[in-house]
Amino acid sequence: MYKPIEIADGIYSVGCRDWDIRDFHGYSTYEGTTYNAFLVLGEKNVLIDTVKESFGDELLANISRIIDPKSIDIVISNHTEMDHSGAIPKVMHKIGKDKPVYCSKMGAKNLKSHFNRDFNFQVVGTGDTLSLGSRTFSFLDTRMLHWPDSMFTYLAEEAILFSSDAFGQHYAGDKFFDDEIGDEIMPHARKYYANILLHFSPRVQALLKDVAKMNLKIDMICPDHGILWRDNPSKIIEAYDTWSRQEPGRKVVVIFDSMWESTAKMARAITSGVESQEVNVRLMNTRKWHRSDIMTEVLDAGAIAVGSPTLNNSIYPVIADVMTYIKGLRPQNKIAAAFGSYGWSGEAVKILNKDFEEMKLDIIDPGVKVQYVPDEADLERCFNLGVKLAKTLKEKL
Ligand code: FEO
Repeated sequence: MYKPIEIADGIYSVGCRDWDIRDFHGYSTYEGTTYNAFLVLGEKNVLIDTVKESFGDELLANISRIIDPKSIDIVISNHTEMDHSGAIPKVMHKIGKDKPVYCSKMGAKNLKSHFNRDFNFQVVGTGDTLSLGSRTFSFLDTRMLHWPDSMFTYLAEEAILFSSDAFGQHYAGDKFFDDEIGDEIMPHARKYYANILLHFSPRVQALLKDVAKMNLKIDMICPDHGILWRDNPSKIIEAYDTWSRQEPGRKVVVIFDSMWESTAKMARAITSGVESQEVNVRLMNTRKWHRSDIMTEVLDAGAIAVGSPTLNNSIYPVIADVMTYIKGLRPQNKIAAAFGSYGWSGEAVKILNKDFEEMKLDIIDPGVKVQYVPDEADLERCFNLGVKLAKTLKEKL
């Protein structure tokens, strides 16, 4: 528990820090996360979002330090994923089950499906407003950012955007605002974008354009995870603009797994080839790097090389895991090449190329296969593949 923080006059951050979580549905959260929720006091008291079910008592305790939870009049649910909606039943039980829950059309459907019960849903969408005395809440549909139900709530008088998952970071610490933590937060925001939102980059671009057209004054962005952007909200907006453009960077990520060090030797030779062209390179052994960290490096890379030994006529299981994960997040505008050692059948390179095709990556070479252990000539072929990747990338930039 932490003391609720007054983030603006009568507006409190009342959520919870999850210091211990290290795996957030497959995403490595080395520094935990937070489930942010916000209490807005006024003519009517409004709670924006809740927390994961297991933190429900802590949320209510935080609220109790400011007001009696029973005096909450309205709940706004910006997003129904369980890390933000899990405590809604507990909250509604406490404040009165007939009190209104403002959410999107899909939000109402999802909450009903999740909890198998009806609340007093008040369905809202883009352009709808809720005026409560001196405060006006506006709603903005952000469908598929990143769920069908997702929406933003904007508080005009204070120019605060409650942005649900968008602009968040999985970070639990003793800092609560961008000005307190500085640039240290950006790698967390980048990782969050790469692993949660990359898939929806065209929608992010469209949303940023819509918001720009609306000319919204934004003094603070309050996401549902991590620190709040009060000092320089435009910094994270600009970062989202950059990341969602998916422009290739001058970087090659070499991803591999190895059985008996042969594919590892090939990976190192490719890495040297890339380096010889003065292009940045990251060598990532899938046994040593979590899939979500690999994905973060892929975000701003212009090329990937993926290597796998052939095992049982297929690719290595850990490589299959990473490829499935990367494929689902749909990175674009990258060139690719495959490599790997084999004993007798050697299907891995073919399978990886098929994956690249499905991902619509630009395969610049049929790939390098080596039987058993690479000799000097094989390693030279790998070095040359690295050179080719780097040169092709430089021509593209
Ligand atoms: Fe933080 Fe989509 O939930």
